[in-house]
Amino acid sequence: MLTRFFALTLLVAGMAGSSLPAQTASLSIDVDKPTAKVSPMLYGLMTEEINFSYDGGLYGELVRDRAVRQGWGALEHWAVVARGDAEAQISVDGKVGPSAALPRSIKLSATRASEAAPAGLENDGYWGMAARPESTYSGSFYAKSDNAVAVTVSLANDQTGAVAGSATVTGVTGDWKQYTFTLKTGSAPATANNHLILTVAKPATVWFTLISLFPPTYHDRPNGNRIDLMEKLAAMHPHFLRLPGGNYLEGDHIPDRYQWKKTIGPWVDRPTHPSPWSYRSSDGMGLLEFLEWTEDLKIEPVMAVYAGYSMAQEHVDAGEKLEPYVQDALDEIEYVTGGPETKWGAERVKDGHPAAFPLHYVEIGNEDEFDKSGSYDGRYAQFYKAIKQRYPALQVIATTAVKSVKPDVLDEHFYMPAEESFAGAHHYDKTDRNGPKIFVGEWATREGTPTPNLEAALGDAAWMTDLERNSDLVVMASYAPLFVNVNPGGMQWATDLIGYDALTSYGSPSYWAQVMFGSYLGTEVVPATLSDEGPRLFASATRDETRRKLYVKVVNATSEARTVRLVLAGVEKIRPEAKLITLSGKTPNATNSIGDPAAIVPVEQRIRVDGPKFERRFAAYSINVVEMDY
Ligand code: AHR
Repeated sequence: MLTRFFALTLLVAGMAGSSLPAQTASLSIDVDKPTAKVSPMLYGLMTEEINFSYDGGLYGELVRDRAVRQGWGALEHWAVVARGDAEAQISVDGKVGPSAALPRSIKLSATRASEAAPAGLENDGYWGMAARPESTYSGSFYAKSDNAVAVTVSLANDQTGAVAGSATVTGVTGDWKQYTFTLKTGSAPATANNHLILTVAKPATVWFTLISLFPPTYHDRPNGNRIDLMEKLAAMHPHFLRLPGGNYLEGDHIPDRYQWKKTIGPWVDRPTHPSPWSYRSSDGMGLLEFLEWTEDLKIEPVMAVYAGYSMAQEHVDAGEKLEPYVQDALDEIEYVTGGPETKWGAERVKDGHPAAFPLHYVEIGNEDEFDKSGSYDGRYAQFYKAIKQRYPALQVIATTAVKSVKPDVLDEHFYMPAEESFAGAHHYDKTDRNGPKIFVGEWATREGTPTPNLEAALGDAAWMTDLERNSDLVVMASYAPLFVNVNPGGMQWATDLIGYDALTSYGSPSYWAQVMFGSYLGTEVVPATLSDEGPRLFASATRDETRRKLYVKVVNATSEARTVRLVLAGVEKIRPEAKLITLSGKTPNATNSIGDPAAIVPVEQRIRVDGPKFERRFAAYSINVVEMDY
């Protein structure tokens, strides 16, 4: 009888979901026996235009479809304005535009308009436009008119019509010209329910394009990024930005690929391009803006170059036909790293950035295992040879296994349900060290939508203990996708790290797991061995010998609080005051959202550590970092 009861207790206590007390696990950490250096580039960011990540997301532009673009029949997001007895129409003029890249415009035909009854056009933004109090907005538009007119620009409330800020641009006349203006808002409270209106007060035909309005941006960069989102990225303590994609690099078809040369220079020379994620990219976030983004975060680009494969199974064979693409990649590297004496370095200087950017990693394509023609081996080898010849120090990343040359680094992607993340939490412990270094260029635990829930964060944290333990091999890792605009129609990928609308943003539980792992990371890996671990308990440890800090991560993905006995070997003393940072929730489904942005956030507390052996209770469904001084 007793035996049966005992066996049953053990069985139930080991199961997630049990209400019986779980055993004490022990975690042995050999603080004085580092096994590897932590890769200095371990955690970074992966990005692409998906889920309105840039347009309607990070890129500060408030006006949606600011340029009249190829493929536009009817006007979208633009509507005519005719107050009182004004009479006006707007239409796409496919033959009148300011440049070869933008040969179209919006034609406003105001046949009756006056001060009392102005006529014009309005834009509804990306699900609204944020107007904040006491702020300065920078605007511009390209226009020409058959009759010299003044154009009044106002940021107005959708419900009340109240104007948050307004400016008038005078002397809009004959030839295409860019006009600039500034709007200052008053004390009205912040709201996203706004639209932008441009009006004239006398009859005229006016052609417009590139109508733009920017709020204050991160580091006050012109053409820059949203402050709240950049602050969230900075808090992750990333080391690199993988750009520009993802599928966004490849495009569905070869002409739709990311053509970097069409994304630099003045906006008026950027034709915009179709992205594979169902909407067209403004290319306001062009190559230089990507690089400035890395500069603002003090991180470096990991730059993927188009490698002759697009997703509709279109490819360019290695050899002569691929040469222009290889040359394009070499030009791109020169644009990023070249001095003013080089052709493309000089182009970057002309674009306003004299200093070269740091670059150590270049990736050849994206997910080329999907190219069923088998052409990647030859394509990779051709890029590899050309890049190494000109830039021998660059590390050249392959996106799938190749045979003809040994890649410096291999990019592996993992999108997993939580069970797979838990099961895979020792994946790299077993990986051969004679192969290429690993870049986990895209990965995520996919539970919850539009942003992952706590279950996903637990899976992520379990998975990151593996990345950390094996960071001699895994030199870089980046979660994907990074961003989602949570408005209806904003999302193309169901689990995304950071959500936002026009006004506010929030980090998912998975975001906070990234913040915790990125913020508390030593320079060396030390062995951390769990005994009696049972299912869903994971750990890793790193130390910083210079700062004498030890960071222990414990992930308890079970429904019970777990007591863990930490046994630190090889340290003479431990400072009794330590820090414990915990991310936890009542259920695995618990999550954050735009309406409840801080339901699951890390909580920090001071704890007492009584010598190198101590017990600590880790909450159910929790991710923990213990920071100790030794
Ligand atoms: O992250 C979303 C997509 O997943 C990326 O664009 C692609 O590389 C992967 O298949």
